[in-house]
Amino acid sequence: MRTPLIAGNWKMNGSAERIRAFGDAFAGDRLPAALDVAVMPPFPYLQAAQHAFAGTPLALGAQALNPEPAGAHTGEVNAAMLAEFGVAYVLVGHSERRQHYGETDADACRQVEAALAFGLTPVLCVGETLAQREAGATREVVLGQVAAVLDPLEAALRKRLVVAYEPVWAIGTGLTATPEEAQATMGDIRAWLETRDAELAQSLRLLYGGSMKADNTAALLAQPDIDGGLVGGASLQVDEFYAICQSAG
Ligand code: PGA
Repeated sequence: MRTPLIAGNWKMNGSAERIRAFGDAFAGDRLPAALDVAVMPPFPYLQAAQHAFAGTPLALGAQALNPEPAGAHTGEVNAAMLAEFGVAYVLVGHSERRQHYGETDADACRQVEAALAFGLTPVLCVGETLAQREAGATREVVLGQVAAVLDPLEAALRKRLVVAYEPVWAIGTGLTATPEEAQATMGDIRAWLETRDAELAQSLRLLYGGSMKADNTAALLAQPDIDGGLVGGASLQVDEFYAICQSAG
């Protein structure tokens, strides 16, 4: 069976104090056993988080990466650097990167390859905008984004990804897709995976993201094709994030 995964994407938020608070709150072994949890702070906090999260169930994640191996890329961070600080997961193709920093499916492909080469688990983010949903294009957009990255990858490498379905209209808006709406699209993703590789369709974890909170986690995760969550705003408060993790177990 697929182990649920809850990942907290802090975006451009956080502080050294918040890293310590999360390390303290998650110390000990009080989370459900069959649950993976990751926290994705901004780059400058990765090293502190590596230390603060040691001995807790929290894995470390990053929010982006540059696929180049090294060199003249001012302001960028590559997969080798992330791996050096114990990063296990990295977001690829988040809608904010696509919308505000011009990242494309082609960039996502290169980032996935770079992440995999350094043993990181890429969390590929896909999702439709409100205009695309209203135009009835949700399925086409989402499956197009998934196919653009998975199809060129070797079969053995595809198994190392996580896919997060985040309807863009639900991100940071307080508008959550209903569990049934999320399931409809995520069921389409699973069915598409099935057309490529039945084993992959069974094993690949699909996360829902978009205004996930402690009080809607259980209903979302009760859907057959929702294996966890990518949590933005609600991952910033340690009590709320802890409650989400409890409901996910
Ligand atoms: P949100 O963000 O939970 O604040 O909607 C989710 C995300 O962008 O990953």
